[in-house]
Amino acid sequence: MADRIDPLSVRKADHEISDIFLKRWSPRAMSGEAVSQEELLRLFEAARWAPSSYNEQEWRFLYAHRDTSEWQRFFDLLVEMNQAWCKNAAVLILVVSKKTMTQNGKPNLVHSLDTGMAVQNLMLQAVTMENVVTHGMAGFDRDAARRELGVPEDFDIECMIAVGRPGSPSDLPEALRDKEQPSLRRPIDAIAREGRFTF
Ligand SMILES: Cc1cc2nc3c(=O)[nH]c(=O)nc-3n(C[C@H](O)[C@H](O)[C@H](O)COP(=O)(O)O)c2cc1C
Repeated sequence: MADRIDPLSVRKADHEISDIFLKRWSPRAMSGEAVSQEELLRLFEAARWAPSSYNEQEWRFLYAHRDTSEWQRFFDLLVEMNQAWCKNAAVLILVVSKKTMTQNGKPNLVHSLDTGMAVQNLMLQAVTMENVVTHGMAGFDRDAARRELGVPEDFDIECMIAVGRPGSPSDLPEALRDKEQPSLRRPIDAIAREGRFTF
């Protein structure tokens, strides 16, 4: 796609890191083309290998490919602003995580943290596949997600993820076209300090 943005032209790291971290960003422009089940399984495979407290693997992923009977059920959960661009996504994923430990039923204080790591694995795997993009979303109806998808009380609703093929920003509604830019970050001094909390 000629007008696709190269995040490496916008983002510069202050210290040496792998390009994979800079190349992962959250485009809204998606082409509407399908992503195969095999490609989707590669994303879940990466998620599967995330670390977790006591190897609990709290994450669970529910998904719908576009052009299937489940798609509309997932799509209807999204707020209007997300529907505006997710109509061109290939797969919608709902991420939920188990709140209690399987071993002893006690509350698991880090279930969301662990599941976040699995989500990041999934997103970084997509970066390695070049023609698959992902975009995390908090903008959806959590109660409806639980109800419509039958998520038990012992699982927290975490986020949704749109997966798709990269598209052209010109296909986005105008309000979103201007936002279609890889974002920048706070400097390290604003996020990491030696010793006590001095931010
Ligand atoms: C858990 C989560 C929820 C998000 N919710 C939304 C959302 O509802 N709609 C949206 O357009 N972007 C959403 N985003 C995308 C963020 O705005 C984006 O990740 C952030 O601005 C950093 O940009 P980057 O991902 O391109 O590096 C979400 C991201 C995450 C991780």
